[in-house]
Amino acid sequence: MTAYFTLQWEDDHVVMLDQRLLPGEVRYIPIFSVEEMAEAIRNMTVRGAPAIGAAAAYGMALAALTADRKHEKVYEQAAAAQTLLFAARPTAVNLGWALRRMRRRLDSAAGGLNNAEMAQTLLAEAHAIAEEDRATNRRMAENALALLPDEVTFIHHCNTGTLATVEYGTALGVIRAAHEHGKKVLVYVDETRPRLQGARLTAWELTQLGIPYQIIVDGAAAAVMRTRHVDACVVGCDRVAANGDTANKIGTYNLSIVAKAHQVPFYVVGPTSTVDLETPTGAEIVIEERAPEEITEIEGRRIAPEGAQVFNPAFDVTLAANITAIITEEGVCRAPFIDSLRAAVQRARDVD
Ligand code: MRU
Repeated sequence: MTAYFTLQWEDDHVVMLDQRLLPGEVRYIPIFSVEEMAEAIRNMTVRGAPAIGAAAAYGMALAALTADRKHEKVYEQAAAAQTLLFAARPTAVNLGWALRRMRRRLDSAAGGLNNAEMAQTLLAEAHAIAEEDRATNRRMAENALALLPDEVTFIHHCNTGTLATVEYGTALGVIRAAHEHGKKVLVYVDETRPRLQGARLTAWELTQLGIPYQIIVDGAAAAVMRTRHVDACVVGCDRVAANGDTANKIGTYNLSIVAKAHQVPFYVVGPTSTVDLETPTGAEIVIEERAPEEITEIEGRRIAPEGAQVFNPAFDVTLAANITAIITEEGVCRAPFIDSLRAAVQRARDVD
């Protein structure tokens, strides 16, 4: 357990760490309504694919509980919440996955339960999603351990730790597990322009965990691989297509090309809930584009000329051919991913 948490339920609302303020300030904010939750996902108060899945689930529960309190129709309000939350961020599949799961629960409750019971059922389902995320992360980390030497140097992109999940983390969970199992770990932390999830969030988490690291600018990865020893690149994922093409934070694709050129294993770590078998290849993944100011300004100070044109995709797609393995809670998937991913998803469904 860490001394900080991403989000948790308290009495009648969600308490969430405002990740926009880290590392300077550790401030938790209350979220009382679905509108506040949708805005928190949109403005990246909470971010990271599994974390926004859990946040959205709680958002739908909040809508149902609020409707019950106001004597409004719980089913209709929860269904409207699903639409509102789904529009908050498009790329991470966990958002839609969690909302569809909540909707199935709502639909099955609608026949026999009254409004208050329906709302409580949704809250229980949101708790279950959050709880499963904790367990899933630890299973992924355990599955990765056998792939790592006793002295292991990583390059890690973006933030994939507790902050990006409900607890423990995906790719950062693998790093944590290596450290906890007594391996000698060093992490090169990609700063991850433009939102600096690496320099701000991953470095903050590694400091709390006592894991040695050095921050590098994103463009330094090739030089680091060439001039220093790197055992593995580990990254998270926002959506994995059926063929293994993987959407993740912008810059991941660059890193995968550089890793391939230097024969460094490139591991994607993510739960089966991030695998989207309905999307055949990366070409069909919708990539979120964010505001130009994320690039033209740093902490509100303009660094580019007035009127500069900007292209700001928040994610890119790493081709399956560049990925050594995709590590899920259901095991380590290797090429051909079309078969190994399908089998992992099936095993996860069998457990449900
Ligand atoms: O824009 P963000 O910060 O939500 O992007 C996060 C990432 O790209 C992570 O690598 C991904 O969500 C996996 S996190 C476990």
